[in-house]
Amino acid sequence: MISEQDKLIEIIRGEIEYLENVDSLPIGVNKSKEELIRLIDKKLPENGEDFTTALEKLSSGARSGLIGNRNPRYFGYVLAGTTPTAMAADWLTSVWNQNAQVFNSSPAASIFEEIVASWLLELLSLPNYSSLGFVTGGQMANFTAINIARNTVLEKNGWDFDKNGMQGAPFISIYCADVCHGTILSAIRMNGFGEKNIVPISTDPEGRMIISDLEDKLSNHKGPKIICSQAGNVNTGSFDFFEAISELANKHKAWHHIDGAFGLWARTSSNFSELTKGIDKADSWTVDAHKWLSIPFDSGMVITRHKDSLANLKKSRCAYSGIPDDSMRDGSQWVPENSRRARGFVLYATIRNFGRKGISKIIENNCYLARQLAELLNSFRDTKIVNEIHLNQVLCRIEPKNVKELDEFHRKTAQRIQKEGICWLGTSVWNGETVLRMSLTNVYTSSEDITITVNSIRKAIDYVLENDNNQ
Ligand SMILES: Cc1ncc(COP(=O)(O)O)c(C=O)c1O
Repeated sequence: MISEQDKLIEIIRGEIEYLENVDSLPIGVNKSKEELIRLIDKKLPENGEDFTTALEKLSSGARSGLIGNRNPRYFGYVLAGTTPTAMAADWLTSVWNQNAQVFNSSPAASIFEEIVASWLLELLSLPNYSSLGFVTGGQMANFTAINIARNTVLEKNGWDFDKNGMQGAPFISIYCADVCHGTILSAIRMNGFGEKNIVPISTDPEGRMIISDLEDKLSNHKGPKIICSQAGNVNTGSFDFFEAISELANKHKAWHHIDGAFGLWARTSSNFSELTKGIDKADSWTVDAHKWLSIPFDSGMVITRHKDSLANLKKSRCAYSGIPDDSMRDGSQWVPENSRRARGFVLYATIRNFGRKGISKIIENNCYLARQLAELLNSFRDTKIVNEIHLNQVLCRIEPKNVKELDEFHRKTAQRIQKEGICWLGTSVWNGETVLRMSLTNVYTSSEDITITVNSIRKAIDYVLENDNNQ
């Protein structure tokens, strides 16, 4: 047993070394799929291997294909890296391997989830009587919210979903921005709806729903309705006009869900919470901890002010799970999963580690750095920032003279940046044009990182212009 422990410590030491150096290692992956596969021992072992061999094969096989997304100059997706506290707590979660299904399967997991749920409601200034379920991420939070929204609006329209299911149910219209996040559309589909149920709402250049269009389209349908708005557009970082939307939702008896996967965290900062004005009036919310709270995947939350609706998400219970007791939190009751990872532990340690003020500081630091990044990129003759910097998202369009295929030029530039490995960013498409997209969520990003990033972007643009611009 001792030797197994020593081996474990050795493996952890090796990984700590990797983590310590991650900032100086190339962020991107420079090997092809074929090269990466060649590094892995792929033969299914007939007999078991010892601990060291199995882990060494894993580590050496995976290392070259890892993206250094813990690096403070990683700006892809919306991804915050992790902190030593979060990583250690995540490791403890694996060591303890608790099943956070019901209170009896892990009293500690249940109690910590309960404590963290109340902290999150307080941090996000949402109604303290709300119900909060810990899910794997934004997609599952959106899925769960739309599921309870569906059942609730059907019930309000005289249809008992539990008894009748969806067959023959009243037609539900679901209103969302024509640029809503893809996971909203997937959540709608996975909840038994088709394209005809979706009513796309026109948006302004920043991706916010145009209220008059929403109003008109709500008036066109008499049956049950769900509105999905957004706190933090994944491209521009913009926020919908929540007060006006909630007012319309009230008037039309619609359920109002807000996808705030990363934007909801703006509520923790007095300087940015104005963007979220009226958000607390909605019926449900999505927020991710693996985005701006530096928590390892996968950690998201679904929240609703209608406790009963989430409590009714599931109607059956496994016979071996014991008799429900309302005074005990059964974590699986409010989420699709049954056996579950005890996600409350990492959240507890991380929130303790940062504190309320620390979280607010991270959000603000990233938002101010996004402004610095935008300003520096705007200063070049051939680049322009195409979004307002609402929060932490930056979109940059490059328009050098003599380049005809601009979309292709952006893709080549992003590839060049990734290849150099000093920083990492990808492309996106906004208002029909390809752009460089940067999302700032890493707790360790500094002003110096922004300068280094801008130099790397400039170098890549010039390189593509000189060497790879076949136009
Ligand atoms: C606004 C928004 N909603 C939902 C998601 C999906 O979250 P996840 O990838 O955790 O499922 C994202 C991811 O970036 C997002 O930005």
